[in-house]
Amino acid sequence: MLMDPAPIEKRFESMGKALDAARKNLGRDLTIVEKILFSHMDPATDFSKLERGKSDIFLDADRVAMQDATAQMAILQFMSAKIPEVAVPTTVHCDHLIQAHTGSETDLKEAENVNKEVYDFLRSSSMKYGMGFWKPGSGIIHQVVYENYSCPGTLMIGTDSHTPNAGGMGMIAIGVGGADAVDVMTGQRFMTRMPKFVGIKLTGKLSGWTASKDIILKVATMLTAKGGTNKIIEYFGEGARSLSATSKGTVTNMGAELGATTSIFAYDDNMDVYMRKTERDAVADLCKKYKEHLVSDADVEKNPEKYYDEIYEINLSELEPHIVGPHTPDLGRTVAQMKADAEKNDYPRGLSAALIGSCTNSSYEDLTRSVSLARQAKKAGLKVKSQFLVTPGSERIFQTITRDGIMKDFEDVGATVLANACGPCIGQWKRDDIQKGDKNSIISSYNRNFAKRNDGNAETLSFISSPEIVVAMAFGGTLEFNPMTDTLKTPDGKDFKFQPPEGDVYPDQGYASKDSGYLAPTNSGEVLIDPKSERLAFLEPFPKHDPVADYKDLKVLFKAAGKCTTDHISQAGPWLKFRGHLDNISNNLFLGAENAFHGETGKGNNVVTGQVDELNKIAREYKDKGIGWVAVADENIGEGSSREHAAMEPRHMGCRAIIAKSYARIFEANLKKQGVLPFTFDDKADYDKIQQKDSIAIEGLDKLKPYEPVTLVLTHEDGSTDKIKVTHSMNEGELQWFYAGSALNYVGSQKAA
Ligand code: F3S
Repeated sequence: MLMDPAPIEKRFESMGKALDAARKNLGRDLTIVEKILFSHMDPATDFSKLERGKSDIFLDADRVAMQDATAQMAILQFMSAKIPEVAVPTTVHCDHLIQAHTGSETDLKEAENVNKEVYDFLRSSSMKYGMGFWKPGSGIIHQVVYENYSCPGTLMIGTDSHTPNAGGMGMIAIGVGGADAVDVMTGQRFMTRMPKFVGIKLTGKLSGWTASKDIILKVATMLTAKGGTNKIIEYFGEGARSLSATSKGTVTNMGAELGATTSIFAYDDNMDVYMRKTERDAVADLCKKYKEHLVSDADVEKNPEKYYDEIYEINLSELEPHIVGPHTPDLGRTVAQMKADAEKNDYPRGLSAALIGSCTNSSYEDLTRSVSLARQAKKAGLKVKSQFLVTPGSERIFQTITRDGIMKDFEDVGATVLANACGPCIGQWKRDDIQKGDKNSIISSYNRNFAKRNDGNAETLSFISSPEIVVAMAFGGTLEFNPMTDTLKTPDGKDFKFQPPEGDVYPDQGYASKDSGYLAPTNSGEVLIDPKSERLAFLEPFPKHDPVADYKDLKVLFKAAGKCTTDHISQAGPWLKFRGHLDNISNNLFLGAENAFHGETGKGNNVVTGQVDELNKIAREYKDKGIGWVAVADENIGEGSSREHAAMEPRHMGCRAIIAKSYARIFEANLKKQGVLPFTFDDKADYDKIQQKDSIAIEGLDKLKPYEPVTLVLTHEDGSTDKIKVTHSMNEGELQWFYAGSALNYVGSQKAA
């Protein structure tokens, strides 16, 4: 077993006291979500003062999981704090960088070649700093976590948006940006917003064609893609307990599609079975012993309105199979309605590809139910009509389904098996059958379907359904096929109709468990980065600034007009390959931003040379000349992804402060961490006072007080001056980050002291 039960036991032992205090504090019973959140906060917290959807909360995470794309910058930052070992159990998973093209073996070899320097870096840094390393081909982060590290009652953060997958195993699992992971890896609490609570009561029982995927497709259709923002969704009731542990994971995985902080099911017997089947008896025994802490208190199911901000109910016995899409997960209808919908909207009817597996639907149950349909069709002499791709979630699943003949039966009807990796789920799919711009429809059992997500082609219409429906549709070959009612012609001209799928939750012979692709840390060795690398570079700690001298004569790099998201600040796409190289990726700084002083996006005037240039080039020149600068912004700067590069790049290129009408919360927090001052206009009309050729002095930074306003003196080109007031939201601890140059500088200095 890879998971050490000792810290879990310690956590469970301490929960009783914490929860008694919380019950007393609130004067009522607690839900499972509250139990986990409260027992991971400072015991001195006054829980009754926490406002759902508003208050910031600080949580002690038990575990960190990172995928290979986001882990690069997180580890580089961690290293810059000069701390010898990660503070909590942490794992790194190589799953995102493997491109699907011709099939598992060749694709894996190609990825090992193309990404060698990244894998070498991740492996060597994992070994040195005490992190578990999962090699390329070992599996997809969420499936590997589920099989090896999921544990009811614990709290995990992961640098991937589908981290909530683990909520199916009764834990709070939150997808975060790299900077939050670094906080936890360096032994700090991580901050999030106190969520609102959504309760979804499940009654009845799934049967026939309906699968757990249909629960979340229905929920997405009901609540919409924005319906989960700043909320935790909890599933409860008899129907919830009837679902296998792996089925629950499918439901919580796709809570991310609603923007939910996370989703969860409380501990039950099915989770106990799963932990034992995945050879984690010691942890299962602990959960059994401390069961009372891992489920909601008695009153919650009887009086849910007392505990949840929103309540919904779904009867699983009446739920029908669904298909959602294209382009959004909340555009749902039943399979029976798909034909009419395709006609009405003129979706291309032919299915160019059908894909199953991924982190969302790779369980033994999913694959045995799906193969039961493939076997019926095989017996009737049928082959798939669409390209049919299978992405196993982990090496353990791959070995198990290969041993049990499932893979062979898929291949016999025409499937191509891809590497145990994300592949087409994250756009890593090289298609030879379709050119960019070709309009076509695909169907998958994955989780995300916005335009370009799977193959980079905006004209691919991506639909999502259960793996069972996807496999059956691969034989129908068209969106119009309803496998529950329609027939297909066999080669000898007979009518063939699918019978409902059947499968096993667990393999009779247990899971295969040869080499799973895991490397345990050695706490030794050197971290490998080629000095000539364009993709990776060690991160030097950011320099400390003199709070008086370095803030006297600042230039205005630009003034954002309208929206300035993290993508406007640091574009994704081709730039992502530089995400482990701060200096190279900084060449995209503000490339997507509209400058109020200039007509062209991403450009501005260099006030020193008088030349028009890209903003990143101007910033670099200011930096090289030792000139500090500020950027000015409208409302909600930094909305969008939680990518820490959006705050690190300005800092690296010499930005001292951002002055905005308002901030997206995570971006503001990231600026503070990197040592950039996030100021807000006291009077929003002052946005207009700042001119392109102003020189700005920020007063009183040597005596900065928590939350106290600061004065900016603007000296305009004609020599006239304006004084404006700005406010900030830095508390005492965050001020120390500013004075130290960054949060990591501060944490590193504290550990060294
Ligand atoms: Fe993300 Fe990979 Fe799953 S891309 S959605 S973790 S398969």
